Amino acid sequence: MSDMGEMSDMGVMAKARLGTEGPEVGVQGLGCMGMSFAYGPTDEDAARATLERALELGVTLYDTADMYGFGENEKFIAPFIQAHREDVVLATKFGIVLDRDDPTKRAVRNDRAYIRQCVEGSLRRLGTDVIDLYYMHRRDVNVPLEETVGAMAELVAEGKVKHLGLSEVTGPELAAAHAVHPIAAVQSEWSVFSRDVEAAVVPTAARLGVAFVPYSPLGRGFLTGAFVNASAELGADDFRRTMPRFNEENAAANAALLEPVRAVAEARGASLGQIALAWVQRRAREHGLSVVPIPGTRKPSRVEENTAATRITLTEDELALLEPIAGKVVGGRYADMAFTSAGRE
Ligand SMILES: NC(=O)c1ccc[n+]([C@@H]2O[C@H](COP(=O)([O-])OP(=O)(O)OC[C@H]3O[C@@H](n4cnc5c(N)ncnc54)[C@H](OP(=O)(O)O)[C@@H]3O)[C@@H](O)[C@H]2O)c1
Repeated sequence: MSDMGEMSDMGVMAKARLGTEGPEVGVQGLGCMGMSFAYGPTDEDAARATLERALELGVTLYDTADMYGFGENEKFIAPFIQAHREDVVLATKFGIVLDRDDPTKRAVRNDRAYIRQCVEGSLRRLGTDVIDLYYMHRRDVNVPLEETVGAMAELVAEGKVKHLGLSEVTGPELAAAHAVHPIAAVQSEWSVFSRDVEAAVVPTAARLGVAFVPYSPLGRGFLTGAFVNASAELGADDFRRTMPRFNEENAAANAALLEPVRAVAEARGASLGQIALAWVQRRAREHGLSVVPIPGTRKPSRVEENTAATRITLTEDELALLEPIAGKVVGGRYADMAFTSAGRE
């Protein structure tokens, strides 16, 4: 872990380990969700080229979930995964139940029978006989954590899954789960805009040797400077329209918070997004944590830009400039925060 976030002398992307027993992966992964879900129409040829370009650049961790497009995202990446099965680390998730009739409606299930049904669906759609990293996507507090992690551990014993992960859990939940079966990675939102995880789950992961996989490290695109008037710029069916941070008033206030990010980027000849990605690598180092952010993109040129950020190490002074931003962000991460770990901290 000494080279976390750095490129080696050979110019190959550095690696980070997923937990004490998990595989080594490139220090930046790829979020595949937007290829089939949440962020509007996709150019599928460009998205396929993005998957291939990422691999060429040293990205090995590919992130999807069964609920992204009701299974369509798993199906979309399946040919790529099959073509490169030995070279990629495949992560998918169970636990969020969508309603086809009402896209705003979500439920959470963590019971053993449901998990066993989900894993078979994911394996089938992905066209593989094993999932490298299987996450519980959200916690259902009505099911004992021991039942959920116990059922996930059964899948490891049966060879259907290699390693376990948890998304949007609290520090105590992570520790309790890790006592049932080693957890390789915790995946939650972590970025210049969203730092609540630094209070409990990040230190717990560091203590237990669990890797952190920050999702939405670009603030769902906001940190690239792409949004000034988000309500005008987002498509009608873009999920970000439901997010308080992206409503007209909040987005304008949040866009103004990007000035220090822009200043650091300009001084380095980098993009705002690259500074955001370098920030999460640098913060993880402060916490003594193995980290693999999974920025999402559907464009090869952007995966080039994003992976190049692994060559940037921010200085103390730059960190200090970016430090106050998160505390000033207006609007929650989701419209319904009860759906996250926040209500249980
Ligand atoms: N566990 C969870 O609950 C959870 C929740 C959300 C996401 N995730 C995972 O995390 C991954 C990443 O999160 P995310 O996609 O929500 O957010 P993100 O990575 O913060 O941002 C993605 C957005 O930024 C844009 N973008 C990416 N690179 C860019 C660049 N260099 N310049 C300008 N714009 C750029 C993308 O557009 P284009 O695609 O058009 O390039 C997309 O709109 C997802 O794909 C998913 O796998 C997990």
